[in-house]
Amino acid sequence: MAENNKTKKQRLKDIKKFNNQMYNEYEKNKRKKNIPESEYLTTMSDKENLIEFDELKTYFYTDSGTVKAVDGVTFGIPKGKTIGVVGESGCGKSVTSLSLMRLLQAPQGQIAGGQIRYNQAGKNRAVDLTKLPVKEMEKIRGNEIAMIFQEPMTTLNPVFTIGDQIDESIIRHNPKMDKKDVKARTIEMLKLVGIARAEGIYDSYPHELSGGMRQRVVIAMALSCDPQLIIADEPTTALDVTIQAQILDLLRDLKDKINASIMLITHDLGVVAEMADYVVVMYAGRIVEQGTAKEIFQEPMHPYTIGLMKSRPILNEETERLYSIPGNVPNPINLPPHCYFKNRCEKCIDKCSGAYPNLISVSPTHKVSCYLYGDKNSASVKNTKVGGKA
Ligand SMILES: Nc1ncnc2c1ncn2[C@@H]1O[C@H](COP(=O)(O)OP(=O)(O)OP(=O)(O)O)[C@@H](O)[C@H]1O
Ligand code: SF4
Ligand SMILES: [Mg+2]
Repeated sequence: MAENNKTKKQRLKDIKKFNNQMYNEYEKNKRKKNIPESEYLTTMSDKENLIEFDELKTYFYTDSGTVKAVDGVTFGIPKGKTIGVVGESGCGKSVTSLSLMRLLQAPQGQIAGGQIRYNQAGKNRAVDLTKLPVKEMEKIRGNEIAMIFQEPMTTLNPVFTIGDQIDESIIRHNPKMDKKDVKARTIEMLKLVGIARAEGIYDSYPHELSGGMRQRVVIAMALSCDPQLIIADEPTTALDVTIQAQILDLLRDLKDKINASIMLITHDLGVVAEMADYVVVMYAGRIVEQGTAKEIFQEPMHPYTIGLMKSRPILNEETERLYSIPGNVPNPINLPPHCYFKNRCEKCIDKCSGAYPNLISVSPTHKVSCYLYGDKNSASVKNTKVGGKA
């Protein structure tokens, strides 16, 4: 027993030592000054894409070991389109978007590999966001790329009025704008998100508004700087059902009015079905299937996606209990060498005990990582370009 404790202590010591080495290495790189452009300028695989995740790996170096939260994720977000990212809790949806925003909890959370290419049209160049100097990243964050969080109060400051907060966001991005014009733009934004008494709301404090109104304000704030990309991470989860529907209607309506791409992260497949042009299905830090919304909803192929579809409540259909996929996601610190879904899969075949299956293309837009399709469609996508139709 004593020896066991000793081994445990030693293991913890080894992990801490390893983590400290990793932190030092990553943080030293981040502190580098005068990074030459050549280190972060890059080329898009497809010019129609705004963002391209390419083999992104994001790890958390914790006392229990390395959590491979995102482990080799590749997909594109085309300009002006909405991508839905789905998958159960802990599969890496938020970490993927936080990596893009470079808002990972440091020093534990680090981008361990891959690229996140951003087609920066304003500057006529493409940059790798994972390598961009911190100062440049700060200019992009909240300006060219905006984020709508699940809980509006994480974005709103309770001690300032709504008007002050949206004004400030506009001024930050248009420092020379006249005060009167700033207020006019704020009111315009509040009206755009369906707030009827915009002038009255301008002088209100966040606590004076309902949850739904606050989320509208957050969306107005995100839109006020004309972003190229809006990341909405569970934008309606904290709201009650009626308000959820209203906010979704608003987002859908805005999608057609603005020219931004939207990365919509949600558990809710119904939301994705209504909003998304393309869908990415994640499982334990990897993409198991991706395609157009039509492909994913009408011809799901991966047993996990099929399970997700079965677990959706269907309107006007009575069921005693909703289907839930049996079993649990494997521990992200100790992932198995085979398909991560194997312990829950009802379609398992002999091959499934082999190496983790490659993502293969089943149509120009539809990709799946599962041995059930390996023989018929042997064209591995490993070397094909990312993005385009995601
Ligand atoms: N700060 C952190 N420290 C350690 N592990 C973390 C941290 N943040 C996230 N993780 C781990 O990374 C993995 C992915 O987490 P992530 O938040 O991206 O999940 P998610 O898909 O957004 O889930 P949810 O639907 O619950 O929001 C999880 O295993 C999580 O425990
Ligand atoms: S590879 Fe095998 S275990 Fe994995 S999802 Fe496909 S059939 Fe199931
Ligand atoms: Mg999340």
